[in-house]
Amino acid sequence: MIKEICLAAGLVAVFSLSASLPASAGEPKGNPAKGKAIFMEKCTPCHGPEGKGNGPAGAALNPKPRNLTDAQYMSTLTNDHIFKTISEGGAAVGKSPAMPSWKAALSESDIWNVVAYIRKDLCKCEYKK
Ligand code: HEC
Repeated sequence: MIKEICLAAGLVAVFSLSASLPASAGEPKGNPAKGKAIFMEKCTPCHGPEGKGNGPAGAALNPKPRNLTDAQYMSTLTNDHIFKTISEGGAAVGKSPAMPSWKAALSESDIWNVVAYIRKDLCKCEYKK
């Protein structure tokens, strides 16, 4: 009897441990709905309301703002790369300096919210090695 109780307690412990582990590695931490609100305010002038890279402020840029709905391209980027691009700007990742740095304007958790929005609603993709 004691043995059964111990076994049950052990199982419960294992279950609660796995429940507290982070979601699949492909899913960025962050809240896509909050990210969307930030994206609409800060990113659409260049990346466009649908994230396709065709916003009015991006029209004269060369290279053009990235089409963030291009799943084939976006799945070559890790979540950490997307985070770093937004946080530190294009130049920090070897891309155009016309992509601004947002770390002064957005908190880390807000940047993760935007990464989650890009993954869930714009490219609808995950990083693929
Ligand atoms: C002033 C215009 C401008 C604004 C505003 C802007 N971007 Fe960009 N962004 C660019 C340009 C230009 C590029 C393309 C860089 C390149 O391909 O060299 C880019 C590229 C990117 C990339 C792709 C990086 C890569 O490695 O290919 C991501 C992701 C991105 N922007 C996210 C955002 C997010 C999120 C916001 C809002 C917080 C934002 N951008 C606001 C101009 C802008």
